[in-house]
Amino acid sequence: MATADEQGISRRGMIRAMGVCAAAALGAGAAEPGGQRDPARRPGQSSVLGLAHPPMDRVRIGMIGMGGRGMSLLRNLLDLDGVAITAVCDIVAQRTAAAQARVAEKGQPAPAGYSAGETDFERLCQRDDVDLVYVATPWECHAAMAVEAMNAGRHVAIEVPAAITLQECWDLVDTAERTQRHCIMLENCCYGEIEMLVLNMVRQGMFGEVTHGEAGYLHPFAEGLIGTADSAVWRRRHLQESDGNLYPTHGLGPVAMYMDVHGGDRFSTLVSMSSCERSLSLVRDQLPAGDPRHQEAYACGDVNTTLIKTALGRSIMVQFDIVTPRPYDRINMVCGTQGTFRDYPPRIFLKGKTPGHAWDTDLEPYFQEHGHPLWKKLKSQAIESGGHGGMDFLMNWRLIQCLRAGRPLDMTVYDAAAWSSVFPLSIASVAGGSMPVPVPDFTRGQWNEPRPLLAQDA
Ligand SMILES: NC(=O)c1ccc[n+]([C@@H]2O[C@H](COP(=O)([O-])OP(=O)(O)OC[C@H]3O[C@@H](n4cnc5c(N)ncnc54)[C@H](O)[C@@H]3O)[C@@H](O)[C@H]2O)c1
Repeated sequence: MATADEQGISRRGMIRAMGVCAAAALGAGAAEPGGQRDPARRPGQSSVLGLAHPPMDRVRIGMIGMGGRGMSLLRNLLDLDGVAITAVCDIVAQRTAAAQARVAEKGQPAPAGYSAGETDFERLCQRDDVDLVYVATPWECHAAMAVEAMNAGRHVAIEVPAAITLQECWDLVDTAERTQRHCIMLENCCYGEIEMLVLNMVRQGMFGEVTHGEAGYLHPFAEGLIGTADSAVWRRRHLQESDGNLYPTHGLGPVAMYMDVHGGDRFSTLVSMSSCERSLSLVRDQLPAGDPRHQEAYACGDVNTTLIKTALGRSIMVQFDIVTPRPYDRINMVCGTQGTFRDYPPRIFLKGKTPGHAWDTDLEPYFQEHGHPLWKKLKSQAIESGGHGGMDFLMNWRLIQCLRAGRPLDMTVYDAAAWSSVFPLSIASVAGGSMPVPVPDFTRGQWNEPRPLLAQDA
């Protein structure tokens, strides 16, 4: 296979996307599957698989980033027992004030507020009355904020993706291992009612041996992305700078759970290809003459398709497209030797059960028989509290419940790192002409040890 240099691809571009560790790995021939050398665990670090801390009567939370997502998470957290919001932070003072007011409206003491610039979140992390820090800021802030929180002795829950360079992925792993803090990514889609039904069915062997999965984030909002709100501006900046799969985890997280990644399998290699860019430019071209956004060019192709190979030889397709006009879709498909599930709309085919060649689209009997106990128990509360059909409530409920019970969490820093690593690795693969790129083993060899099954004992 031609090397990236032979193809005239910018080595500097790839190194920037992959981060320092991967850059070193490239030099070691890591572009060949199996040729990677993951950095060794440093003295003073130990695995955080199965990490548990003493039970907490109340979980005291500090939140960084009180924009759209932060306020939505706050609403769920205020609906939970055993939670105290002790501090909130946003660089926009009105957003900090709005979050403080929301907490007070719910009858809790108004939390401390931090708005004095880009680094004021550090003071929130230093507070002794914060057990857990939520991070809901733009992508490029996530890892540094999480590392700061863990170094201050806090557990951390980070919005998606948890990190956007390979170096940041390793920083999260290394810091969690050194500080022995929980560090998870808030991948709410793992807690969807359908995803948890499918997970149960996979675990019960109904699809036989799982061989393939498909996932995606196909969410058209080009008209919103071109806007001037800061949430549009920072997202658009990533599309200007990078070509790859820039929001992989909503689709990939649930499929990784179906495949028991880090409980018996792991991602080993990926290849990635992007289409040409057209749709966002088209929307930009409709802006009034003289608008400064006419100067913008978008690096990211309309549709990115990434293929991951796992250590057990399974394959996963992950797509990213936030500009093509089409219905919302996370694909959410799993194929096994005994059947297939495909979402949007949800449908099942089981060998020897589903007649003919058509999908079974009536999921009700499956929900009755295999629906997840957590959804059966909490459905009305989850829907009332809200957030993506209740999945957000369930995710937050489960995180708080585990901390209060002193149990290991459903997701680990290794999941956060591996799922998020698709962001930089897909950029590197696209830049290298869709070359195969090794996915680091963030567990450093522990990927096939049994792990607690997601919310199994709810
Ligand atoms: N899981 C989901 O379903 C879901 C949904 C939406 C967004 N998200 C994620 O949530 C995050 C935030 O997205 P959003 O849509 O709320 O964006 P947003 O722009 O609305 O909110 C981000 C907030 O962070 C603040 N901020 C930026 N830098 C800061 C700093 N240094 N210190 C303190 N505050 C700072 C901004 O002022 C802003 O209020 C992103 O990572 C996004 O991917 C996840």
